[in-house]
Amino acid sequence: MKNDANNIERAVKILRAGGLVAFPTETVYGLGADAQKSDAVLRIFQVKKRPAFDPLIVHVASIEQAESLAHFTREAELLAERFWPGPLTLVLPRRSVIPDIVTSGLPHVGLRLPSHTLARQLLEASGLALAAPSANPFGYISPTRAEHVQASLGDSIELILDGGECQCGIESSIVSFHDGEVSLLRYGAVKGEELEEALGRSIPYQKQSSPDRPEAPGRLTKHYAPRTPLYFDPDQALLASLSSEEKASSGLLAFQEAELDFGCTEVLSSEGSLEAAAKRLFAAMRKLDQAGLKSIYAQRFPDQGLGRAINDRLKRASISA
Ligand code: TXA
Ligand code: MG
Repeated sequence: MKNDANNIERAVKILRAGGLVAFPTETVYGLGADAQKSDAVLRIFQVKKRPAFDPLIVHVASIEQAESLAHFTREAELLAERFWPGPLTLVLPRRSVIPDIVTSGLPHVGLRLPSHTLARQLLEASGLALAAPSANPFGYISPTRAEHVQASLGDSIELILDGGECQCGIESSIVSFHDGEVSLLRYGAVKGEELEEALGRSIPYQKQSSPDRPEAPGRLTKHYAPRTPLYFDPDQALLASLSSEEKASSGLLAFQEAELDFGCTEVLSSEGSLEAAAKRLFAAMRKLDQAGLKSIYAQRFPDQGLGRAINDRLKRASISA
């Protein structure tokens, strides 16, 4: 099932025939299908066990292709010119060529032009717009290696293109343009500060409108979650009060250093780099989840730059989400 980087041709055939191909992007692995084939897109929802109300991002090879699928405002163009190819998704009024199933019936579509070489080769060689959510079962931790995809979805899909470890490790930032209003729908791999600098104004974070039918996405409060209960931002007094047995059966996910002795510890960046921490976040969560622990404690990261996206994912992964 696993395939090497030279398998673009096979991937294109599968996609043209309505099949599913997992492919690497600079953020996480995506599970792709021809966005214009409703049956193929339906299979994405089935394989992931994803609720039909959670729309998919459409991946494109160029800004021109993006403009054939949605209506851009001047500000959307500005962001596309500045951050594409790259980990930014723009939510824009869609044109009718996009089937309803892709956007869960919403009048807007999420578009992204990824920078990963394999993703771009696939998009260019196929000439297709690819609907692709993260290639994980709905609600579980996003995959940052081909092995992660293989382990959970390998038997249900036609091909996995293996591009090694994803560079950013955390999903794209999502900026929405609704009726000329700009808002941030998801903290992600492009820093909020950079987006605001590019537009020269603040971009408010849009809170989820309804838990039953979230207008945006990975915004369901519970998401990205390990099976082991995860406690986000525990206070130091609580950690210090754990018995040695409790510590031995618990894991700690820390930013720069772990002073306490836990059964399993993942320090994401001893040099204190939020980029490095984001890259390792999901693989570390998987590792802790597979270590047979009773609980996982995750520290809060600095609330700036990629730290915001990391805290967002940890909060959604926690039992209190
Ligand atoms: O980095 C990424 O964005 C990765 C890679 C594969 O590109 N994709 C990804 O897809 O994270 P997914 O489906 O796991 O998360 C996309 C989120 C969804 O939760 C969805 O609600 C939101 O984007 N979204 C997609 N289309 C939307 C739309 N038309 N309006 C509002 N939100 C939308
Ligand atoms: Mg996802």
